[in-house]
Amino acid sequence: MSRFQKSRIGNTELAIDALGFGCASLGNLYHAVSDEDATDILTTAWSNGFRYFDTAPHYGQGLSERRVGDALRSSSRKDYILSTKVGRLLRPAGYATERHGFLSPMPFDIEYDYSYDGVMRSFEDSLQRLGLDRIDILFMHDVGRVTHGDDNDLLFPIAMDGGYRAMNELRQSGRVSAIGLGVNEYEVCEQALKCGDWDCFLLAGRYTLLEQQALDTFLPKCVERNCSIIIGGAYNSGILATGVSGMGPWNYDYGPAPDDVVRKVAAIESHCAEFGIPLAAAALQFPLAHPAVASVIPGIGNVRRIDQTLDLFATEIPDDFWGALLKHELIRGDAPTPLSTDSTSE
Ligand SMILES: NC(=O)c1ccc[n+]([C@@H]2O[C@H](COP(=O)([O-])OP(=O)(O)OC[C@H]3O[C@@H](n4cnc5c(N)ncnc54)[C@H](OP(=O)(O)O)[C@@H]3O)[C@@H](O)[C@H]2O)c1
Repeated sequence: MSRFQKSRIGNTELAIDALGFGCASLGNLYHAVSDEDATDILTTAWSNGFRYFDTAPHYGQGLSERRVGDALRSSSRKDYILSTKVGRLLRPAGYATERHGFLSPMPFDIEYDYSYDGVMRSFEDSLQRLGLDRIDILFMHDVGRVTHGDDNDLLFPIAMDGGYRAMNELRQSGRVSAIGLGVNEYEVCEQALKCGDWDCFLLAGRYTLLEQQALDTFLPKCVERNCSIIIGGAYNSGILATGVSGMGPWNYDYGPAPDDVVRKVAAIESHCAEFGIPLAAAALQFPLAHPAVASVIPGIGNVRRIDQTLDLFATEIPDDFWGALLKHELIRGDAPTPLSTDSTSE
């Protein structure tokens, strides 16, 4: 698949590239990125054709949005698609401290607010931080049990009532083109499908080479409803890029990888070695085979990764590799797999 292959988002007019850029890294996720390096990364990404960027107020408490906005504001850069998120308001804290893996963030505390007013405020605040006059896709960020535990029982109804109403109004008035949820769990998306008309979901870490439970009911519902999926965390926070043959510790879902995950990655990696393909190439290309998936947005935190990522995306992966993973039950039997160019040209 070409990285420029465009997919429509739901029933909207918006079309995004198969390969986008996840900008959590530019909020200093896992390691600090200097302002100069952030500019260099975004400039290099742009000159290499990246046009879809995903950011959020959460990423470095505003730092990622500021950097992405600064880069996109350049007069020649118009034809981009930008997503950001609502649900967290930033309140002045008077100090900056590491939170949720984001190093040296802006000096703000986070207040969750999924209400109508909270969503509207969050949207306007993002425009100010970005210094831009448009946001294309707006995601409700991290509503669900993974972030809120039992508090989600209180927050979810608020989000699906006032929060959804605000997002829907922004869409109807044309201030955003598409709305969805941006989360690390598919169950909350499935619940949300019962409550509103969503165009897309940014699903992070839950449809990857390592796990495909979303195939049971959620992804089929997305196909049926024509609701697009954007894949975040395609490397499950890193382990599917680094593999486990080198020195650990290996990052899985924002923390050290448990033993069963390390064993499964090692098994997948041995088939990658057999076929001479990088594990990261398989991880990047696999989710896009599902008909609901429009784009995959790896986290890129240094400039060398841009060329690497393009090479990984372009790596030819033989059908027999996917066959081997299926045969050894390393991916689910009902998981669609990418077709090699050979089979597509027949
Ligand atoms: N709730 C949500 O809405 C949500 C949640 C998670 C993610 N997302 C979105 O999805 C994007 C991607 O997710 P993510 O950044 O959490 O995780 P990810 O893409 O699974 O992994 C990123 C990690 O992989 C490393 N990496 C990338 N390419 C590599 C390569 N070629 N070789 C070795 N290591 C490599 C990066 O290292 P370097 O930093 O050194 O490049 C980084 O540590 C985010 O930026 C965000 O836009 C959204």
